[in-house]
Amino acid sequence: MNRKPCNVTMEQPQQRHSDNLYPVTFAEQFGDHLLELDVPAGVWNPTPHGVHLAEMLLRLDFARMHVLELGTGCGIHAILLAKQNAARLTLTEIDPAINDNARHNLEKHGIDVAIEYLVADWTHVDAGPFDAVVTNPPFARAITRYRRYFIDTLILDAHKLVRPGGWLVFVQSSMADIPRSIRLMQENGMDVRIIGETDGPFRDYYLEDEEFMREIALIPGAYTIRDGVYHERLIVFQATLP
Ligand SMILES: C[S@@+](CC[C@H](N)C(=O)[O-])C[C@H]1O[C@@H](n2cnc3c(N)ncnc32)[C@H](O)[C@@H]1O
Repeated sequence: MNRKPCNVTMEQPQQRHSDNLYPVTFAEQFGDHLLELDVPAGVWNPTPHGVHLAEMLLRLDFARMHVLELGTGCGIHAILLAKQNAARLTLTEIDPAINDNARHNLEKHGIDVAIEYLVADWTHVDAGPFDAVVTNPPFARAITRYRRYFIDTLILDAHKLVRPGGWLVFVQSSMADIPRSIRLMQENGMDVRIIGETDGPFRDYYLEDEEFMREIALIPGAYTIRDGVYHERLIVFQATLP
């Protein structure tokens, strides 16, 4: 990405290339906010996707909003949503231990807005509608055969989660077919805006997954190769519901 690498310590190098669930202490400045996140083994540690989304959240004002974050992980975005004036947060994860880690990091950063932690499977959230939904959806590491499952259901279920006129804000890679997402959002009556875009080298675990590399080779514009290095584009969408 066109930015300095995250300041990450405590990682276990032998796991670095095989998954993204190794323990780290993540430290990064976002605008006026220095985030120092404790991320234990088993919790997704922030990648350039999550970092780009975090940076783009600083461009939005969530004042008075009740915001749902799907798949909050270590809580990086939840902290910034509160800093960007969200009145109330609902955070979901598949495993209560991951929610506990998010709670730890939010408390560490002095976040004192109303927060509800739910264990929920993706868009199956028994709450809402919300003023906004924010997420970094699984894709390269999706457990589904159809990797766009999380992106497609996010768009198709948005009307169940977000009030009319509310926002759907998410990050997506060019590997997941950006025009396809834009078309699907527009077909569902959303007004689509790209808040920010960046570009950066592939993570090692993409290159190690031959099936994944074969799949994305079929996606127009999935990547560029510059000086022999694969690069993906990262887009943050803000879609306003009809
Ligand atoms: C790409 S990570 C993003 C985590 C965090 N928001 C970030 O950007 O660092 C996706 C997150 O979704 C969670 N997740 C995966 N499958 C899920 C599901 N079916 N329902 C809810 N969350 C899920 C994972 O545990 C993971 O924390």
